[in-house]
Amino acid sequence: MKEKVKIFLQEQDVNARIAEVAKQISSDYAGREVHLICVLKGSVFFMCELAKRITVPVTMDFMSVTSYGNDTKSSGVVKIIKDLDEPLDGKDVLVVEDIVDSGRTLSYLLEILQKRNPKSLRLCTLLDKPERRVTQVAVDYTCFNIPDEFVVGYGLDYAQKYRNLPFIGIVEFVED
Ligand code: IMP
Ligand code: MG
Repeated sequence: MKEKVKIFLQEQDVNARIAEVAKQISSDYAGREVHLICVLKGSVFFMCELAKRITVPVTMDFMSVTSYGNDTKSSGVVKIIKDLDEPLDGKDVLVVEDIVDSGRTLSYLLEILQKRNPKSLRLCTLLDKPERRVTQVAVDYTCFNIPDEFVVGYGLDYAQKYRNLPFIGIVEFVED
C-alpha cells in the first residue's frame, strides 16, 4: 500500500484559526503568565504559531510521550520518553497538543501533570476527533473538530513523514 495526501485545511485557514484561539487565550490569561507545554513531536509547529500570537508573557517547556508506533492505531501504551525540564508548582499551565484522538495519551498526561501542583492546568489542541474518544478529557481550546480520518502535516506524521507539510492533509491509502 502507498499513501496519497489530499489537502484538508489550507495553511492560511489554520493560521487564521490559531490567531483566534491565541486571542481567546490572551484574554483568558490577562494579567497572568502562561506556561506552555509542548507535547513532542507533533505539537511543535502548532505551539510555535500559537505562542507567537499570544500577547501575555509566555514560558515554554517540552515533553515527549509515546502513544502510537508507526501505525494509525493506538497501542494504548503511554510512556514518558522525555520529561519536562522545570517544575510546575504555582504555574498557569497550558498543555499544547496536536490532536486528541482516543484521549488516552492526554488523560494520562494530565493526571501526571496535575500531581505536580500547577496553579491551573488547561488543554489546547489544534485538532480534535470527538467521534474517536475512548477516555474522556476536558479540552479547553480546540482549533478544529475533524471527522474520523487520518491526518498529517502541520507537525502531524504518518510513520514520521509529512510533519513539514504547511497544510493539514488527509492520508489515503492506495494499492501500489
Ligand atoms: P490518543 O491517545 O489516541 O488521543 O492519541 C493522540 C496522539 O495520537 C496524537 O498526539 C498523535 O500523535 C497521534 N494521532 C492520533 N490521530 C492522528 C492522526 O490522524 N494523524 C497523526 N497522528 C495522530
Ligand atoms: Mg501528540
